[in-house]
Amino acid sequence: MSEQSEKPYRPEFAILNGEVLPFAEARISIMAPGLTFAATVFEGLRAYWVEEEGQLHIFRLPEHLERLQFSMRVVEILPPPTNSELESQIIEVLRANEMREDCYIRVQTFVDDWGEMIATGPVGTSVICRRRPRIPAFETGKHFVVSSWRRNADDASPPRLKATANYLNSRLAGLEANRVGAGGAIILNRDGSVSEGPGGCIFIVRDGRLITPPVTAGILESITRGTLLLLADDLGLEASERDVGRTELYLAEEAFYCGTGQEITPILSVDQKPLGDGQPGPITRRLQAAYDGVVRGRDDRYRHWLTQTYD
Ligand SMILES: Cc1ncc(COP(=O)(O)O)c(C=O)c1O
Repeated sequence: MSEQSEKPYRPEFAILNGEVLPFAEARISIMAPGLTFAATVFEGLRAYWVEEEGQLHIFRLPEHLERLQFSMRVVEILPPPTNSELESQIIEVLRANEMREDCYIRVQTFVDDWGEMIATGPVGTSVICRRRPRIPAFETGKHFVVSSWRRNADDASPPRLKATANYLNSRLAGLEANRVGAGGAIILNRDGSVSEGPGGCIFIVRDGRLITPPVTAGILESITRGTLLLLADDLGLEASERDVGRTELYLAEEAFYCGTGQEITPILSVDQKPLGDGQPGPITRRLQAAYDGVVRGRDDRYRHWLTQTYD
């Protein structure tokens, strides 16, 4: 999968517990409950470099921090760092690494030191950034398969939380897809409806209308998904949030996978059944263009979604 095939990249500096350190020195205890019991939550954000402005724009930073607060509250990582502390650290890590290209930011909070399964602190925080250009599949699309793994349920390991524990399920689905030579996986929930992919949400197009599984289908409440629902409305496209059956995937004229990392990846086929003419479709292309305009600051209506890195 693309996430795996990107070249490994380590930033020069990371921030651990508020302190800027050389990346190699940012280390935590091997007995931290964040590691031993997966008491870790995180956010993945993107920042976009706009050459004409000499500016790096962080996309929807407050929304990501709000989601992180929600994850910390439910997993009980206490006391949580404040949004203003986290925002300052994100800007600081970008500046320390002199990021002047499209990049990815990962913020993690976890239970540190050595503790029991239900330990709530001490709270560790880490912030890293790394260069992350747009993936080529944004243009070319990928072939997907329906996974034999079922999505973890809201009453077991809730996908609404961005908790590292949930990524075991994603990893199993991703490994399986990779093994059969597919570019991505679509995971069904216990009811047999489409939930999402390992690291992004799914939209299909039927009869010219967009459909995406609801937030009760076992998905992360994706910021990209929310953004695209708004942009679809702006473009006069009809969009609904409702359950999607497996075989509807095969009926779709178009489909795409969306999230911060992959942005909008056209889905060319599902289980080797081509969608439409097997190429990225026109509605997908319109949304990609609108999204690009928003994240790169060309759409004045959404400038407030961008946080500037440099003064
Ligand atoms: C499981 C999962 N679903 C959906 C998404 C998309 O969420 P967002 O658009 O907020 O990045 C992600 C992360 O990108 C994810 O890991």
